[in-house]
Amino acid sequence: SLPKTATIIEVGPRDGLQNEKNEVPTDVKLRFIESLQKAGILEMEVTSFVSPKWVPQMGDAAEVMGKVHRTGRQFVLAPNARGIENAIASGADSIAVFVGVTDSFNKKNINRSTAESMEGLAPQIRRLKEDGLFVRACISTAFHCPFEGPVDPDRTLGLCREFAGLGVDELSVADTIGMADPSESYSLFGRLKEELPDMLITAHFHDTRKMALANILASLQAGVDRFDTSAGGLGGCPFAPGATGNVATEDVVYMLERMGVSTGVSVAGVCRAVDEVAGFVTRPLSSGMYNLHQNG
Ligand code: HMG
Ligand code: MG
Repeated sequence: SLPKTATIIEVGPRDGLQNEKNEVPTDVKLRFIESLQKAGILEMEVTSFVSPKWVPQMGDAAEVMGKVHRTGRQFVLAPNARGIENAIASGADSIAVFVGVTDSFNKKNINRSTAESMEGLAPQIRRLKEDGLFVRACISTAFHCPFEGPVDPDRTLGLCREFAGLGVDELSVADTIGMADPSESYSLFGRLKEELPDMLITAHFHDTRKMALANILASLQAGVDRFDTSAGGLGGCPFAPGATGNVATEDVVYMLERMGVSTGVSVAGVCRAVDEVAGFVTRPLSSGMYNLHQNG
């Protein structure tokens, strides 16, 4: 049976805008975020404290954090000690660290092997937990790697266990390049829910091959009730060749509500938020519900 409620973690302002060709002005990002909050979003990745040389689109992270309305939970991504320090200085209380299961992806993304990243992050995570912050761990290439191909689920589970041992609050497990199929999703998330019953487990699907909604249904059936989604279906990691947008928030909310799984999020409200940024993004917005909204 399906859960009665599910939580949407909006990642559009971060995953969505990090991969855009144009730099979206900070005040537009802030209007986008506020509009998403008005649509009922309570948890959101608002920005990332990464090197502006690597990801210029997130160069205004401190300004975004300084001006964002603090309703609900604002996550900020940080890849290393420097990013965590800057995030805390900006007033963040919920930090998302991110590591890939495969070395080749992790090196392209954060210039370290997976083990080197974990070695650097372990003392940071312990300190964040001692100081009472919320720590989310994002696990990239959990199913497939753009460089190494299919990933053995035991390796993904191993990295998840390692993070659990460090005391993180949440694992966001990602299909970075949108290659997972529903049976793989059901199997991996089923195992995670069984092995780590007290952990918040979140599914992060990119929709490259249009399998994300099917993967979400399969994950729901495996007991997952938290989903990372991106308004308008924006998104993609600049260091994962072939990665396109995350599954669209408005499509996921529509599907869940139709099935009687309550999200507290308004489809129309999310579409109005997408209107705020649509003029600034260069890619076509391909979500079903946003297209209906535009054709009015
Ligand atoms: P590096 O070049 O190895 O860094 O990059 P470094 O430690 O050698 O430092 C080099 C310079 O960067 C120094 O400055 C540092 O101070 C500076 P310089 O002395 O040359 O002037 N620096 C920083 N500046 C600002 N913020 C920082 C920071 N760290 C160092 N945090 C680094 C390593 C991790 C910095 C770089 O690779 C990086 O920023 N990578 C970020 C990549 C990224 O943002 N990817 C997208 C997010 S992950 C994602 O999308 C996947 C996800 O959605 C899940 C999924 O779908 O799979 C989460
Ligand atoms: Mg992503």
